[in-house]
Amino acid sequence: MSAHLLRRLLLLVYLQTAASTPDCEELELSPLITGPDGVKDDQLSASSIYSSAYVAKESRFTSEIAWCKNNSDPDPWLQVTFEDSQTIFAIQTLGNGARFEFVKNYTISYSLDGSKWNWFTSGNGTIHTEIFRKPSYSLQFSGNVAPSIPVRNDFETPIVARFVKLHPLGYYEYRSVRWELYKCLNLDCEGPELSPLITGPGGVNDDQLSASSIYCSSYVAKESRFNVFYYSCETASGSVRGHAMTTINDVTNNDDATNNDGAMNNDDVSQL
Ligand SMILES: *[C@@H]1O[C@H](CO)[C@@H](O)[C@H](O)[C@H]1NC(C)=O
Ligand SMILES: *[C@@H]1O[C@H](CO)[C@@H](O)[C@H](O)[C@H]1NC(C)=O
Ligand SMILES: *[C@@H]1O[C@H](CO)[C@@H](O)[C@H](O)[C@H]1NC(C)=O
Repeated sequence: MSAHLLRRLLLLVYLQTAASTPDCEELELSPLITGPDGVKDDQLSASSIYSSAYVAKESRFTSEIAWCKNNSDPDPWLQVTFEDSQTIFAIQTLGNGARFEFVKNYTISYSLDGSKWNWFTSGNGTIHTEIFRKPSYSLQFSGNVAPSIPVRNDFETPIVARFVKLHPLGYYEYRSVRWELYKCLNLDCEGPELSPLITGPGGVNDDQLSASSIYCSSYVAKESRFNVFYYSCETASGSVRGHAMTTINDVTNNDDATNNDGAMNNDDVSQL
């Protein structure tokens, strides 16, 4: 294989890595509780029930009533137990199907093994309110404003869990709630389309690359291009090679475009 062909191949592999960022503009969601891929009644449980009518299986979206906690329960929760761990992208809630009762806000906890539980927390920059729940902060989700109008919350970071609990907080009349959790079917949908600024069709000329100094005449600034096969410069401080990129489609989330570690990682390229 000629060096030229090898370089082209490396560039191609690199560009494909850059383009495969899983960033769904529009998630294709599929229900995990009620529907063809849903759970059985005995996979729904709760900390307590208000009466024999308001059992956990009535928390399905198709129920004519809802699940509701017992009046004497100080720490109520509604739980779903999946057969295998799921990657959950969103939650949607409804109130009571027969009465004007609904949950105004709630938190979520989840577990992989059923014994170690995590509160769903936010990273920085979230629009949700964080409330303190020992031993950490958890995210307070917006619930319903009327029993029959569904309200959906998308998780900024999908939950990977086999067990998920909804903990009702604020409510109107009674903590009656129906819920649905969603997985995503189009995980591999196209992310931001990235195009290189330094090397490639729209790239710069060699004389547009400069440096403060060179180790020796082989290691000049133009050798900082991504498609240069031999690039390692063993100085005491090591060599640095970067690659700036521009986005050519309409990207709303700049972080994904500038912080694409997978594409920028030199190790990935040198191992090809
Ligand atoms: C609800 O709590 C009360 C008081 O603790 C208890 O007497 C009642 O049996 C409970 N109801 C149900 C349906 O669990
Ligand atoms: C948000 O950022 C601040 C300041 O950097 C930090 O103190 C805080 O712990 C961060 N909160 C979360 C939830 O990461
Ligand atoms: C959420 O619920 C808590 C606890 O009932 C309540 O104090 C708070 O005001 C509620 N927040 C909103 C935004 O409704």
